[in-house]
Order: sequence, then C-alpha cells, then structure tokens
Amino acid sequence: MARVLVIFAHPAFERSRVNRALVAAARATEGVTVHDLYEVYPDFLIEPHDEQRLLENHDTVVLQHPFFWYSSPALVKEWLDLVLAYRWAYGEGGTALRGKILAQAISAGGPEMAYRREGPNHFSVRELLAPFEQTARLCGMGYAEAFTVHGAHHLDAAALAAESKRYQAWLTTLRDGAAPLWLPTP
Ligand SMILES: Cc1cc2nc3c(=O)[nH]c(=O)nc-3n(C[C@H](O)[C@H](O)[C@H](O)COP(=O)(O)O)c2cc1C
Repeated sequence: MARVLVIFAHPAFERSRVNRALVAAARATEGVTVHDLYEVYPDFLIEPHDEQRLLENHDTVVLQHPFFWYSSPALVKEWLDLVLAYRWAYGEGGTALRGKILAQAISAGGPEMAYRREGPNHFSVRELLAPFEQTARLCGMGYAEAFTVHGAHHLDAAALAAESKRYQAWLTTLRDGAAPLWLPTP
C-alpha cells in the first residue's frame, strides 16, 4: 500500500466549496495524509527541509488545488521552487523522489467542453499541466492521470457529495498502486 501525501493549496479556504469537500474526503481516506500549505505557511515562508522529510516518508504525492490561470495557486509554485532542490530532487545525486508518483487533483470553473481545441480554453487540462508532468519526469517520478472536477461553480450538494466519493475512489486507486499513469515511473 503506497503512502499518499496530499499537498493541498487554496488561498481562500473559507470561501471554498469544492476543495473543502474534497479535502474532507481525502482526510477520511485510509493511508492518505493531508498537508495544507496555506494553513502551515500563511506567510509563504516554506521550510524546505521539513517538506523534503515529508516527501521522503511518502510514495505518492498529490497536488490538490483549484485551477488558477490554467495552473496552480502561487504557494504551490513557491513550494516547487524551494522544495524540489538541485542535488535532492534532480541533478547530480538528486534521487530523493525517484520511483515515486506525482498526481494532481484540480477543480476548475470551466466545463470539460471548454478544455478542447475548439473550446474557449483551447488546450486540454493535461496539456496545460505539462510543466507539472515534466517536473515529475525530471525528478524520475511517474505522473498519474489527473483527477479533475469541472464546472466548480455549478455543483449542488448532491454533486459535491458525488465528486467527493469519486475523489476517494481515485485516491484509493493511487494508494493501492493501481492508478493509470500518463507517465510511467522510469
Ligand atoms: C484567480 C483565479 C483564477 C482562476 N483561473 C481559472 C482557470 O484558469 N480555469 C478555470 O477553469 N477556473 C479558474 N478559476 C475558477 C476556480 O478554479 C474555481 O473558483 C475553483 O476551482 C472553485 O473551487 P473552490 O470551491 O474550492 O474554491 C479561477 C479562479 C480564481 C479566483
């Protein structure tokens, strides 16, 4: 059973509906640890060594966040910049993440059909997540098929409950090493 670490980032959690439901589902899933970046680092002063120890103690890392400008909230970028350090995550002797899996759980305001070549967002979610996939590749990690919730502003309570269940199933598949990968582990 893989140890799954959900790195969660939402800068306005008090206003969140979708991620609030999803993070509760993650917390209730056996074998899954949730680490809330904006809660731990409201001042953006990330402790890279603490984060690296956390990553070393897990096999699978899920970045869970709302889609912001086709990417992540800013603290995720800061986290990547500071934590995935040269000679630790990549480069000479940088093998700490080798063989682990990276995955993303994204909530998007746009509907699925908006993320098509002929749609307003032109690119698919997978295409837009290319920098994250390539980050996994450079660090010798696999990259799992993303979990995506579309139409985030139009989900009623029943739909949110269904998405939470679907998220738990997705996390369980990751935990059990059975998740489909977009990029296999090397
Ligand atoms: C600064 C900002 C940028 C956003 N950019 C996108 C975007 O690029 N694509 C998209 O589909 N939705 C975008 N949205 C909508 C959010 O993804 C949506 O509000 C969020 O997923 C809802 O989840 P929550 O209920 O947990 O806050 C953006 C929202 C904000 C505030």
